[in-house]
Amino acid sequence: MAYEPTFTSGDPDRSGLFAWGRLIVAQDFERYSRADLERRTGVKWHREGAAALAAWVADMDFPIASEIASAMTDLIGSGDLGYPDPGLDQSLRTAFARRAADRHDLLVDPGLVVVVSDVVQAIYLCLLAFTEPGEGVVFLTPSYPPFFSAVQETGRTPVTCELSLGPERFEVDLDRLREQVRVSRARLLLLCNPHNPTGRNFDRSELEGLYEIAETFDMVVVNDEIHADLTLRGSAHLPFGALGREAMARSVTLSSASKAFNLAGLRCAVAAFGSEQLRERFSQFPAHARGSVSVLGMVAALAAWEKGNAWLDGALQVLADHRDLVVSAAREHLGPSAMCCPQATYLAWLDMRSCRLPDEPAAWLREHARVALSPGADFGPSGSGHVRLNFATPRPVLVELLDRMWSALETRTVGDP
Ligand SMILES: Cc1ncc(COP(=O)(O)O)c(C=O)c1O
Repeated sequence: MAYEPTFTSGDPDRSGLFAWGRLIVAQDFERYSRADLERRTGVKWHREGAAALAAWVADMDFPIASEIASAMTDLIGSGDLGYPDPGLDQSLRTAFARRAADRHDLLVDPGLVVVVSDVVQAIYLCLLAFTEPGEGVVFLTPSYPPFFSAVQETGRTPVTCELSLGPERFEVDLDRLREQVRVSRARLLLLCNPHNPTGRNFDRSELEGLYEIAETFDMVVVNDEIHADLTLRGSAHLPFGALGREAMARSVTLSSASKAFNLAGLRCAVAAFGSEQLRERFSQFPAHARGSVSVLGMVAALAAWEKGNAWLDGALQVLADHRDLVVSAAREHLGPSAMCCPQATYLAWLDMRSCRLPDEPAAWLREHARVALSPGADFGPSGSGHVRLNFATPRPVLVELLDRMWSALETRTVGDP
């Protein structure tokens, strides 16, 4: 397929979040040119500069919602950057509970929500609070890489259960998982739903099966639902805690505005506990040891959850269109089973084993196509031969990125004996 990308040249006037006080008002998801992105200081683009198109770490290349920018510039403009008032913490917990109920039918008690600096921090603390050293923690693979490091670095034992690949989607193999939990006596299920990297939104029967296992073996279920608001058209997100009161009572839901609204550098997330007992066990770590959250992070998250839905609707449309483009291009170039259609997230999990590349595909593509994707092996041994591609970027950048990949692969095939 011949793609013809068109890039606008980098215009310094359009490149910043705000040119001192000037807010972004237009919701133009194509606002940033490639040159703008290459000048970014965040790790995603800064690591590569102009050397490769960056589609690895899960940040978006869109402008943030004007409502968020305006809430932040109001604070900055008035020098109002002192210690946050406890009322702000309460507003954030209430806003999350309201949002969870409105969007996902998840009934959260704001009194059982704890504001934390980030979701990964909350995962570490949950492992320390709800398991003993050496005990098993079960999670599905391929897996978001920090799940491995969190379990290892806290001295717990990883128990991994491979998702099975059905005709259309990855699925939880409940029988295998039950057996692994029985044998390992795992104490905690660490669930990522929607799932990174496959983009699965687990359905009711899968979640009920997981609940039944958790109930049988008396496990705490820690749900990383950071991608819930990134559920794309054609799918719906069902939180584990929405299965019912009993499921909620043994679970913790972790979330943040950071993925859906692109605020990852601001560090602000929430842990919503299903019972007072779980919240208390988590709170055994003194608040100062856990660290606290910045006023900018809290104000941005509040603005996102209370005022950001129109922006999010726009972003979801763009992302669903990008998802469809990547799925059809990947199937055309890599084969019909190279990619399952993600139901959520802006991440594509590509099986490149049919290309028979001499190296791991991410390394090969970095060298030959000058695109920076996440290496599949980072997501566990079964991820070898795969890559994860972040499609939350302006369409011209995405089109060029795909074009570079296919051109490099085609050139290689032609040169092969
Ligand atoms: C599943 C999942 N959990 C957590 C995170 C990171 O969240 P935080 O920055 O709040 O730790 C990410 C980031 O990509 C993610 O994909």
